Amino acid sequence: MTLAEAKTRHRQLARETRQHDHAYYVLGQPTISDFEYDRLYRELADLEKQYPELISPDSPTQRVGGEPLKEFKPVRHPQPMLSLDNTYSQQELREFVNRLQRLLPKEKLEWVVEPKVDGIAINLRYEDGLFLCGSTRGDGTTGDDITANLKTIRSIPHRLEEESVSAPARSVIEVRGEVYLTKTGFKRLNTERAANGEEPFANARNAAAGSLKQLDPRIVARRPLDIVVYGVGQIEGTNVRLERHDQLLQWLKTLGFNTPERTWHCHSADELVKAIEELEQVRRGFAYETDGAVVKLNSLEQRQRAGFTAKAPRWAIAYKYAAEQAETKLKGVTVQVGRTGALTPVAELEPVLLAGSTIGRATLHNEDYIRQKDIRVGDTVTIEKAGEVIPAVVDVVLTKRTGAEVPFRFPSQCPECGSKVSRMAGAAPGDEGVVWRCPNSDCPAQIRGRIEHWCSRGAMDIEGGGEVLVRQLVQSGLVRDVADLYRLKLEELAGLERMGEKSARNFLQAIDASKQRETWRILFGLGVLHVGAGVAKALSRCFPTLEDVFNASIPQLTQCEDVGEVIAQSIVQWHGDRQNRTLLERLRKAKLNFTSELYKPKAAAGPLEGKIFVLTGTLPGLKREEVTERIEAAGGKVSGSVSKKTDFVVAGEEPGSKLEKAQKLRVRIIGEKELLEMIEKR
Ligand code: IVH
Repeated sequence: MTLAEAKTRHRQLARETRQHDHAYYVLGQPTISDFEYDRLYRELADLEKQYPELISPDSPTQRVGGEPLKEFKPVRHPQPMLSLDNTYSQQELREFVNRLQRLLPKEKLEWVVEPKVDGIAINLRYEDGLFLCGSTRGDGTTGDDITANLKTIRSIPHRLEEESVSAPARSVIEVRGEVYLTKTGFKRLNTERAANGEEPFANARNAAAGSLKQLDPRIVARRPLDIVVYGVGQIEGTNVRLERHDQLLQWLKTLGFNTPERTWHCHSADELVKAIEELEQVRRGFAYETDGAVVKLNSLEQRQRAGFTAKAPRWAIAYKYAAEQAETKLKGVTVQVGRTGALTPVAELEPVLLAGSTIGRATLHNEDYIRQKDIRVGDTVTIEKAGEVIPAVVDVVLTKRTGAEVPFRFPSQCPECGSKVSRMAGAAPGDEGVVWRCPNSDCPAQIRGRIEHWCSRGAMDIEGGGEVLVRQLVQSGLVRDVADLYRLKLEELAGLERMGEKSARNFLQAIDASKQRETWRILFGLGVLHVGAGVAKALSRCFPTLEDVFNASIPQLTQCEDVGEVIAQSIVQWHGDRQNRTLLERLRKAKLNFTSELYKPKAAAGPLEGKIFVLTGTLPGLKREEVTERIEAAGGKVSGSVSKKTDFVVAGEEPGSKLEKAQKLRVRIIGEKELLEMIEKR
């Protein structure tokens, strides 16, 4: 294939893939099978590997997330991102309508009601149809540049449908909307985090915010984020003429975006109230959490005349639905110890009805949370259950304090084994200093947690290995670790309280069946910090056996897709513990399946395979991003700082201190020309 032919084919493949992405992620109507899609995608990726110069920022392959950033750059919004006035009362809503009518006397007012998406407000800037910059709202004037993170969201087009832009020359289109984490995605993410020994997110909105704040776009790419758009910022150089909000939404749709799935047109306060009530019902079926309805004037021209206050438009208001809350008494606080040793304070409550179920316990998150809210035993507290979230104590009703309440003192010892707890041991990123942990891996609570996790459906799927039986097994001393399960005898099991011979037989059979489970399940079941099911699968694709995973070095592990430095370190650290190594050996002897079925040997390596590069100074021909892309496409890695592991420093004009460091460490220094020669050498 000549370069020209490759170019044509690339354009074709990129266009087709984009169309299928849009059909799948925005319209929800896939136009081809997954298999066909994968084939297209792979051809595109292969072509880009062969001709890295074809990789454009809007290529569908660029959604998997680029290199981690050091920090987010500030972005000024040419048009401020405003907030909305809000209300919880119908009376205020009526007053709002009357106010607008007084402002625009005798005019016919038409309103549009939309769901208020409970996510994170963002601005997407397109220049000449290309997605250039995505940012958060920040303080309304300046936000954070989170382009790399937003690029991973499939329903954000990298390129706008040309026919719809119909711009004569230079055009700017800023689209505004809300990034959210789907309700199901949120549940899944929290299950995964719990399995990894990480703090669960309190709700979907926090999870979305936490995801967008990640500096490593590769992590963001794995989060089930999506977007709904409902407005625009700066618009310049396009031919579209819009008069109404409903037309604007329609236009955004033709540009390739997800818009609110239902809207209502209303002409009076009564109609608005009705629409808002209707939305309150149907919103439960939406993929995202909603915390209210947004009421907007439909006519854009009337909006202009209504104008703005300092913070919010006069032509719109948010009607918020009350979160499902209840008041009850906090009888006590217990502390639960998880399988990674994390201590979670749990509120023991006077049972109360909330959102259709009786709640007797709710999370208090962590010690800092209790202290910040000054929650005391005996207090009347407000608990809340928003959507898919675990019930949580959200506030204290101070007016009901009697003075007899006692502050809760977080234990300095593990309530299970008495070990001194620490705030640093095994800290997961993000929870350093927040989560207290029991450092004793022989703590009965941790032992039980590890065995329950091993038996769980997502891991080794051993039927019967639930909380009750596991507690008995550990208490009786029959089982201390997961390898002990494979030595259990019928008479031992049948001797346990409330265990008949039949159940004992069934449990043994289930244990036996688990010997056939796939290798990634073992890897996940072992409960190595940060190794969730997804990472376990990725590792099983990269390494032929379980032993190979644990014998690999950190650089070998990070070669594996989805495996970063933190995960690799955690794996190496786990295997550094002699007890863990013995456990592994006993599992192998018990004839568990250590040979990965997912393993796929790597295709022919690129010319820079395994080499680590550091860039410094300005190169004569290529931009920094281009150089990085090319190095990566040829199998190499680009790192931010020079160390002994660096293979080459690529130096341009006015190199920085990295050059000196390279000289000191005797790292080979090359120029752009040499680099390109190395890449072309296949
Ligand atoms: S319009 C100038 N429409 O709610 C007004 N906002 O509480 C721009 N939000 O900052 C906002 N759904 O982040 C609008 N359908 C919707 C919305 C929506 C959610 C968010 C948005 C805004 C906040 C105000």
